[in-house]
Amino acid sequence: MEKAKVEIDYTNEVIRIRGLKKSFEDFAVLRGIDLDLYQGENLVVLGRSGTGKSVLIKLISGLLTPDHGTIEVLGQEVTNITDKALQELRIRIGFSFQNSALYDSMTVRKNLEFPLVRNRKGISRKDIDLAVETVLDAVGLSQTINQMPSELSGGQRKRIGIARTLILNPEIMLYDEPTAGLDPITCIEINDLINEVQQRYKTSSIIITHDLTCAKATGDRIAMLLDGKFERAGTFDEVFDTDDPRVKPFFDYNFIR
Ligand SMILES: Nc1ncnc2c1ncn2[C@@H]1O[C@H](COP(=O)(O)OP(=O)(O)OP(=O)(O)O)[C@@H](O)[C@H]1O
Ligand SMILES: [Mg+2]
Repeated sequence: MEKAKVEIDYTNEVIRIRGLKKSFEDFAVLRGIDLDLYQGENLVVLGRSGTGKSVLIKLISGLLTPDHGTIEVLGQEVTNITDKALQELRIRIGFSFQNSALYDSMTVRKNLEFPLVRNRKGISRKDIDLAVETVLDAVGLSQTINQMPSELSGGQRKRIGIARTLILNPEIMLYDEPTAGLDPITCIEINDLINEVQQRYKTSSIIITHDLTCAKATGDRIAMLLDGKFERAGTFDEVFDTDDPRVKPFFDYNFIR
């Protein structure tokens, strides 16, 4: 599906990263990152394995602390925030994990209810049911409500994982390799879902991927992590209009040039 036009507010940075550095022992993973995510935008982050993409997401969500630099998320500096404020901030961010992270012993319904019951104290049964039905409809899987995760396909599990995140109406979505391990047709469905979420929930998203079809289909802007920095950023065509040997093989492999 062709990506529909979205409204992006380039005056409103929901994430603003400056001079971010992170090392483990003496291995410098992130070496001075500047990155903005604008309100309403899908930003794709590309990079080889081990370049620090997941580390970046962990820094944004306060799971890791940087060595240098600032990370502002929804107006708050996550490197300088109380535990309580960080917890409240995290509720406003949705994570889509590579393994979908569903609870195997719970039905789809219970999986979806879980974040609501935990984070919206006092919510009524009726509102819970309505919220579950709404997000299941949004990801096109209403019929799976009473199934167990083990009865779902990989693509369905991914959708339910995304639905479970959407149930709290996140302002920011962080997708860590949303299409990894899926067949090409299911990948296209997930790409479309990411775009539908952007439209319907007005989210701003970071999408980490190696899948250039996903990058092209979902990204309003692409940033490529090279040697610990975002050296190339722009539209898909701008980023890949280069002979840089660190960039070109990515394109050639994905599109069999
Ligand atoms: N908690 C940690 N302690 C030590 N080293 C770490 C830690 N977390 C990540 N690293 C190292 O940081 C580097 C970047 O890891 P990261 O998981 O961010 O890579 P990635 O870009 O997400 O890769 P992939 O595409 O394979 O998921 C790796 O070399 C990894 O070993
Ligand atoms: Mg990773």
